[in-house]
Amino acid sequence: MKNQVALILDFGGQYKELIARTVRECNVLSIIKPYDITIDEIKEMNPVCIIFTGGPNSVYLDSSPKCDGEVFELGIPVLGICYGAQLIAHMLGGRVEKCDTSEYGETKCFVENDGYLFKGLDNEQQVLMSHTDRIVEIPKGFGVLATTADCPIAAYGSEKQKVYGVQFHPEVEISLHGKEIIHNFLYNVCLAKGDYSMDDYIKNQIESIRKTVGSKRVLLGLSGGVDSSVCAALLAEAIPNQLVCIYIDHGFMRKNETQHLKTVFEKRKLNFIQVDASERFLSKLAGVDEPETKRKIIGAEFAKVFEDEASKLGHIEFLAQGTIYPDIVESGKNKSAVIKSHHNVGGLPKDLGFEGVVEPLSGLFKDEVRKVGQLLGLPKEIVNRQPFPGPGLAIRIIGEVTREKIDILQRADVIVREEIEKSHERADQYFAVLTNSRSVGVVGDFRTYGYILAVRAVITSDFMTCEYAKLSYDLLSKISQRITNEVKEIGRVVYDITSKPPATIEWE
Ligand code: XMP
Repeated sequence: MKNQVALILDFGGQYKELIARTVRECNVLSIIKPYDITIDEIKEMNPVCIIFTGGPNSVYLDSSPKCDGEVFELGIPVLGICYGAQLIAHMLGGRVEKCDTSEYGETKCFVENDGYLFKGLDNEQQVLMSHTDRIVEIPKGFGVLATTADCPIAAYGSEKQKVYGVQFHPEVEISLHGKEIIHNFLYNVCLAKGDYSMDDYIKNQIESIRKTVGSKRVLLGLSGGVDSSVCAALLAEAIPNQLVCIYIDHGFMRKNETQHLKTVFEKRKLNFIQVDASERFLSKLAGVDEPETKRKIIGAEFAKVFEDEASKLGHIEFLAQGTIYPDIVESGKNKSAVIKSHHNVGGLPKDLGFEGVVEPLSGLFKDEVRKVGQLLGLPKEIVNRQPFPGPGLAIRIIGEVTREKIDILQRADVIVREEIEKSHERADQYFAVLTNSRSVGVVGDFRTYGYILAVRAVITSDFMTCEYAKLSYDLLSKISQRITNEVKEIGRVVYDITSKPPATIEWE
């Protein structure tokens, strides 16, 4: 059975994937295409609707992106968002002008006519506005559906023509009921069947991987993180006998992590190669204590080990990567100052000689990737894993990294994680950091001089900013007692109460 498709025409807006994701969440398959796709291609796709994204341009400029006007004659419902809404107005005989006052940010929007789009929603809605142009005249036969203080036409539409425009962004979380507005459009206007689910995503990807790869081989760098693990599980379903996964153990993994991963993946139908490269990494890091230098050395060594191992496997045509959509967005805005050089399994040299790259998760957000992993039967500990940096514990050991310090940190870190998980108190990422300082203590009648261990636990949804988690004193006491009792090298435990900014989540 073929799924109904919502066609999203990309006019250059930054939220197109969020639109696509919201549509998927409404159980309709979404496909993004460039704005200048031909009418024949659209007819061929036979979409249940067409959604125009936002974009940075002004519709009245000759150079601004415009689609073929025939889209309005196909009888397919259209929804325009921001620039998309302005474009519809402009193309169908309305008028768009520069705003006297630009609207940016959270705005109150007043629904004048609930019709199909706002059905079931309150008359006052919080929405995200972000525009410098506005619609001042709507096309003939259309009605105004909503307004804001600075924007008299915040939403408009025509039930007869099944064409709607919203100046705000229903696809972002700030627009509190935005998803319901898109849902209303899909179900009330387009009469969508809602025939799409993540199972279909998996089926479609399996089909597409098989088509791309044919009978050739695929190499995947498996780090054990959510993304590369889900990617491995998906590829293993699609091309079990053609997939080779290399897991490079740099020696900075958490306690028992490598063993656990091995057990999980050895059960699956894939060729899992584990490389113990800890000696190589440790010797490269000997005497190094500067955080950025550590990160650079680990990233470069990782690429070398990968290359060395790949060359032992003969010619492999494809490289698979667990890239997800936010990775693409983040790497796109590279103009900001470098705070830390991130190292990921994806950060491999460009000239490895592969014919092609397979990235089956590149359109998904993290929670969708977790869902795919769950459906593919990966264990909860992998699917719900908190983020773990590519350089691993090496950047949670302040100063020089040694085998002894790794062992101390692994034993303390597992206690922090166990106790926080048992407590069910909220923290989105939590771990231990071995500081480079020691302090004096007393055990029995003897003086001790042990390491100071820091506990870090943060609340965040995007990991770009965070607050420190307000863990209870009881929980902190339990963690401290267990660590000082069970890890004799540690003499003192402190709790990190810094948010990001000014700190970062990791210490290095
Ligand atoms: P920071 O320390 O920059 O961390 O506030 C933000 C988030 O990113 C994770 N992190 C990394 N992830 N490779 C990764 O894949 C890295 O090199 C890396 N460094 C930090 C960190 O754990 C947090 O979730």
